[in-house]
Amino acid sequence: MKASPVYTLAEGVPYGSATTAQHFGGDNIKGLMLLQDTQLIETLAHFSRERIPERVVHAHAVGAWGEFEVTHDISEFTDAKFLNGIGKKSKTLLRVSTVGPERGGSDSIRDVRGWGMKIFTEEGNQDWVFNSIPVFFVRDPIKFPSLNRSHKRHPATNMTDPTMFWDFHNNSQEGIHALMLLFSDRGTPKSIRHINAYSGHTYKLTKEDGTFHYIKVHIKTNQGVENLLNDDAVKLAGQAPDFHAADLHQAIVNENYPSWTVYFQIMKPDDAETYRWNIFDMTKIWPHSDFPLIPVGKLTLNRNPANYFADIEQAAFSPSNMVPGWAPSADPMLQARMFAYNDAARYRLGVNYQQLPCNRAVSHVYCPYQRDGFMTFTDNYGGDPNYVGSDLKPVTFAGNVGANGCVVGGHEKWIGQVIGFTSRVVDDDFVQPRAFWEVLGKQNGQREHLAYNVACHLSGADPQVHAKALEMFSKVHPKVAEMIQVELEKIANSHR
Ligand code: HEM
Repeated sequence: MKASPVYTLAEGVPYGSATTAQHFGGDNIKGLMLLQDTQLIETLAHFSRERIPERVVHAHAVGAWGEFEVTHDISEFTDAKFLNGIGKKSKTLLRVSTVGPERGGSDSIRDVRGWGMKIFTEEGNQDWVFNSIPVFFVRDPIKFPSLNRSHKRHPATNMTDPTMFWDFHNNSQEGIHALMLLFSDRGTPKSIRHINAYSGHTYKLTKEDGTFHYIKVHIKTNQGVENLLNDDAVKLAGQAPDFHAADLHQAIVNENYPSWTVYFQIMKPDDAETYRWNIFDMTKIWPHSDFPLIPVGKLTLNRNPANYFADIEQAAFSPSNMVPGWAPSADPMLQARMFAYNDAARYRLGVNYQQLPCNRAVSHVYCPYQRDGFMTFTDNYGGDPNYVGSDLKPVTFAGNVGANGCVVGGHEKWIGQVIGFTSRVVDDDFVQPRAFWEVLGKQNGQREHLAYNVACHLSGADPQVHAKALEMFSKVHPKVAEMIQVELEKIANSHR
């Protein structure tokens, strides 16, 4: 039998009991506590500090470890080593979250799911910070905090508030496609094993020779997409709020490892210049008929976190973590996100968050010009020069000069002027949502579900915002608005 661990205080000193406190006043329940009782003081002081700031969005999550395996050769498009060599496997960490609720939220609520994935490659960390829908609610980063606040709690009542939700979307209609996806049955997945994930943004694959391609990433569940009906999801949110966590945990315990197939849509730069849709507008998809899905690899989850806080809460994902061969595009949302996540991690976890075991690269790291700071727990590069350009300890430089994609890969010559840009909604913003409505029409009951799901939510909002919401849906198709209106009336009558 394995020997049981000897209890010590946090500084390693063995201690005879974890429950004894020093009393002045006798061996009974009456007693004055002593300042010399290190165990009691340390225990209480640590308890008060055991929370770290939760993520401002995507606080509530489920996560696991796994591996990404290359299944198809795409070496003509990228030098990225983790994508080259059929059969090559890289360790992966996945964190799937709801967006709006706080850390203790319910798994089955209606929400987009976030997909934070870190691939530990031989060239450093490649993060994919995606969502469970292929488009987003806004295409302009300045609106992102407002979008999220409108989905969260009212500043006065501290309650989630459908009125402000609809008030925001009524006035920022560019996100109508994402809104329809949210209120389709996809908004309430049966489990995270049954969802797809999408990059949303356009990224670039690059080669040393300067060639590049634009891509969008699709990650499709091999378990099949399965969703809950609105009313069942609402019930589960009360009855089994940790239902998705339990489902994933148990699947891995049972060695029923969930897997996903990773596909890229790949576009030539010349095509991007003339394409029907602006490829830097993340409220737009690239129809598969224009750019088919090309299989690339397989993701498998096969290990539960040994400790949720250590592995999942402390994980920090960022769209700016990119290996050579992968680069950002000129999507303004992506550009803004490349600042926001590292900034959030520094606030939430501290300046040395990259050193935490769950985030630490498996490849060689030598970055002596970033050192010190709270909680440095490496050797901090010992006595190596902490300034650039030293002959005392020569450093070898490899890889691209400048930001990823800046030198390698084209479309980076810019001419223009600085302007104040405001994104405005136009008729074109309703074309793809209309196509989605047509697709729903081919699936039994899906249009009815969408209308019912919207009505359930909208009926909780102040009637003042109803008309404008219906007007917005009527721009997709008059039938959508009409069906929502009918459902709204049914709900109103049932409350009479
Ligand atoms: C300008 C737009 C956006 C900004 C400023 C933004 C900002 C943030 C911030 C601050 C966090 C919390 C990070 C942390 O505390 O570690 C976060 C989490 C997240 N965001 Fe965004 N976000 C934006 C858009 C998006 C989009 C478009 C997607 C998906 C395509 C996305 C996916 C995620 C995911 C998956 C997480 C959770 C990551 C994790 O598991 O730790 N976000 N975002």
